[in-house]
Amino acid sequence: MNQSQLYDYVKLKCKEFDKSASNNLCDLWQYHVKQVYSIALHLADTYKADKEVVGCAALLHDIAKIIDPKCEEVHNEVGAQMAVGLIGDDLPKQKVDHIQKCIRNHRKGAKEENLSTEETCVADADAVSVILNVPDYIAWSTSMGNSVADTIKHTIKKLKKSFDKTSKPTQEMFRKNYESAIKTLEGHFMFGKRE
Ligand SMILES: [Fe+2]
Ligand SMILES: [Fe+2]
Repeated sequence: MNQSQLYDYVKLKCKEFDKSASNNLCDLWQYHVKQVYSIALHLADTYKADKEVVGCAALLHDIAKIIDPKCEEVHNEVGAQMAVGLIGDDLPKQKVDHIQKCIRNHRKGAKEENLSTEETCVADADAVSVILNVPDYIAWSTSMGNSVADTIKHTIKKLKKSFDKTSKPTQEMFRKNYESAIKTLEGHFMFGKRE
């Protein structure tokens, strides 16, 4: 499959995943995969990366756990293996290898690891998507029965971890979003706890 066929395929798989979810708040395509794809392409433009490699890898970065949620822990490795069969002969082997590396390393932090520019675009986009999706995450977490306070504490941790692992230039690009989200969340605990 080429990039546009992969786009339709992953979108379809996300919609199937949403239908199997226990609540109607799940919109994996809209709020995560499509968003990671758009952010990754924006970063690829800015950092002069190979947009074909970045685009395909961003679309496929979570494909393994979308198809089989049980493989969450190793979804980067399984997804990298799946990419070979999904792309087939539509791209040269060198590009497929690089796409595999991007998928395999999307959970790593661009700051500590020696990632290529393309790998950095995908890993950063995945982390930035967390920073931009606070309202959806809170809605989802509370709908799963977690208290608002616990959800907010967990969200703050998740945001800090995501921001810390992104590369310096991406941090500067999204610093305002990150800081305002943290400020709003921490504000929940100001002037005493809710009864
Ligand atoms: Fe992932
Ligand atoms: Fe992801």
